[in-house]
Amino acid sequence: MKHFIDISNLSKERLIGILNASIQNKNENISKEKLYKVIGLFFEKNSTRTRLSFELAINQLGSSSIFISSKDSHFSKGKESVEDTAKTFALYLDALVMRVNNHSTLSSFVKSSSIPIINGLSDLSHPCQTLAGLMTLIEEKGSLENLNLLWMGPITNVAHSWIEAHKLKIGFNLNIFCPEVYINKYQNKLQSYDLETDINNIVHYKIDNDILNSADAILTDTWKSMGEETDDNHLDKLDNFSVTEELFNKAKKDCLFMHCLPASRGQEVEDKVIDGPNSKIWVEAKNRLFVQRQLLKELL
Ligand code: CP
Ligand code: NVA
Repeated sequence: MKHFIDISNLSKERLIGILNASIQNKNENISKEKLYKVIGLFFEKNSTRTRLSFELAINQLGSSSIFISSKDSHFSKGKESVEDTAKTFALYLDALVMRVNNHSTLSSFVKSSSIPIINGLSDLSHPCQTLAGLMTLIEEKGSLENLNLLWMGPITNVAHSWIEAHKLKIGFNLNIFCPEVYINKYQNKLQSYDLETDINNIVHYKIDNDILNSADAILTDTWKSMGEETDDNHLDKLDNFSVTEELFNKAKKDCLFMHCLPASRGQEVEDKVIDGPNSKIWVEAKNRLFVQRQLLKELL
């Protein structure tokens, strides 16, 4: 693996390997390794967790990071081509983490880059988040075997990475409760990137109580992703897809709540759920550090 753009870049074995190594390394004392590398963080969108966890992971590995805001780069102003920008980055950097508006920017960089590119979120996927979510599930539930995961709401970039992990058949079942309009939006987005995915058998336009009752973890995301136009009429369609206390109580007693964050409290989730005893949001956020540290070790 040269770059890490999507979960689908990984084989089942490699994915499990990264997760196991991340869990193993979680509590190790990180002695600064001699391998000194310089990693760039090029961000076109805001971030709290991704930037912090990558910067910390890089520091713990004895390497250093340079943050490049898209506001300051010639590339984002359209003054320099992808090819020339990618070649310039490779002169100074050993790897590049990118948070981009359009997934196609990642694909273009991958074509022109001689250094590893890591996807720190695009409009289409957020694979580092799914790695951290999977690690959290293994830690909390012992394994992914036969876990029933339930995604609530729009099929966002984060949801897409969960779908890709599901396609690797690593043990968990996935169901998605999402209004039809948001499924269409997602399918249109995939088509614009010339990608196909078969989700018909896991998507449900309405809440199905049998599926809800057997959920081991309920996952959701903001209804308004960064940079996405949201029609208020569409938002109304999401009312029944909020993870309220009432809905959450219909799942298994030990069902976990997970969210990539940032959350719009009171919209996709109620305080009583996100702050409740079954919520694992902080474990998941902290696990970003461990999976990304492992990923950097494998790519550098
Ligand atoms: N979950 C996540 O990627 O958070 P940030 O947008 O804060 O980086
Ligand atoms: N779907 C969200 C995820 C944020 C981590 C967004 O793209 O804004």
